[in-house]
Amino acid sequence: MTSPRSTTEAAALNIVLGVAGGIAAYKSASLLRLLVEAGYRVTVEPTEAALRFVGQATWEALSGQPIAGGLWQNTHEVPHVALGRSADLVIVAPATADLLGRAAHGLADDLLTNVLLTATCPVVLAPAMHTEMWDNAATRANVELLRSRGVTVVEPDEGRLTGADSGKGRLPEPDQLFATAVAILRRAGLPRQDLAGRRVVVTAGGTREPLDPVRFLGNRSSGRQGFAMAAAAARRGADVVLISANSTLPTPAGVKRIEVGTAAQLQAAVTQEALTADVVVMAAAVADFRPVQVQPTKIKKNDLATDAPAPIALERTDDILAGLVREARNRVMPQVIVGFAAETVESHQDLVRMGRDKRAAKGCDLLVCNQVGGAESAFESLTNEVVIVSADDRVTQIARAHKDVVADAVWDHIVDVTAAP
Ligand SMILES: Cc1cc2nc3c(=O)[nH]c(=O)nc-3n(C[C@H](O)[C@H](O)[C@H](O)COP(=O)(O)O)c2cc1C
Repeated sequence: MTSPRSTTEAAALNIVLGVAGGIAAYKSASLLRLLVEAGYRVTVEPTEAALRFVGQATWEALSGQPIAGGLWQNTHEVPHVALGRSADLVIVAPATADLLGRAAHGLADDLLTNVLLTATCPVVLAPAMHTEMWDNAATRANVELLRSRGVTVVEPDEGRLTGADSGKGRLPEPDQLFATAVAILRRAGLPRQDLAGRRVVVTAGGTREPLDPVRFLGNRSSGRQGFAMAAAAARRGADVVLISANSTLPTPAGVKRIEVGTAAQLQAAVTQEALTADVVVMAAAVADFRPVQVQPTKIKKNDLATDAPAPIALERTDDILAGLVREARNRVMPQVIVGFAAETVESHQDLVRMGRDKRAAKGCDLLVCNQVGGAESAFESLTNEVVIVSADDRVTQIARAHKDVVADAVWDHIVDVTAAP
């Protein structure tokens, strides 16, 4: 049977993380964190018993989404079918003896077991229980039955169990489960490895230009879109260097991170890294101006006349994007350069016009533009809506979506450009 969902190749993949009611549920919070940091979109479905161990707030805060809820919530969305169908992977950690039994016998008395029956994607169950429960003939038979149907049932570890006792039945560590999930997705050909062998440099965050040892001129960029670009490229097989300016976001899995502060530091780092890059993505918000002088000590209130406006002399910073384009033209190796622009325009038409002008002025291959302002501003938001301007002036609109999804849509474009004869 084919799944009715549209297989947009883009997208951060959808993972359903089922959590059953075992003491090891707390470890699943770390697994969730690893999956989210790697850019997967994870919907958590805890069983009723699981919520007695770790509460809803933990799952929602770490996943950035509401938990799937119960069988009888949001029934208009038919969640008992929709969730399983939209999943690229279902992983249940921990899987209790009870959950294994219900899954093996096709019971569907809660949302998670319904998901297990409707999912057509790979399913991974990671059991955790006391050794006696694991060794019990009923559990053994359930595991064999599930395995015979193609479900991956991870072997539990040996070691310390709930109390002072130890033996077989421990949930494997979160990083092992994460590696299993990624390996199984890879085996299923997900995500596409269309950036394998490519070296990618992404800049992200916002630069800060110091006025004195405690103050700076900065901007509101959180770095989310750039980090999402880096995470997506790594998922698609690229060798990724992320140059991060003042972002507190965690480093995406498999990405090498370089920290910078000012526009000049970012310029030095990206110029160096670009020497061997196939693609450079300039998603950082870089200061256009910096104070001419940085005071060596904190500027005091009394240093300034009380009623006169405080003078801060500014000078222009270098245009890093235009500089990269100039350098790229001198290279033997072809290089794709992608700029990002945030504009305070009134309308979509103005955004497109400014985007075309700016792309032409900079000479980059693609310019990804977003409109600044309004309730869903590009800065600090989890979602974004962009237009991509190509070198032939073509304009593609990416509708509002999670920044991970936007990142994959932008990479689809970049892959098209690099594939062009
Ligand atoms: C403190 C406590 C710890 C438990 N730990 C486990 C466990 O590690 N593994 C397991 O299979 N069951 C464990 N159980 C039993 C399950 O919670 C029980 O079978 C429950 O019905 C499972 O529901 P679920 O499969 O819907 O999550 C535990 C129960 C309690 C009270």
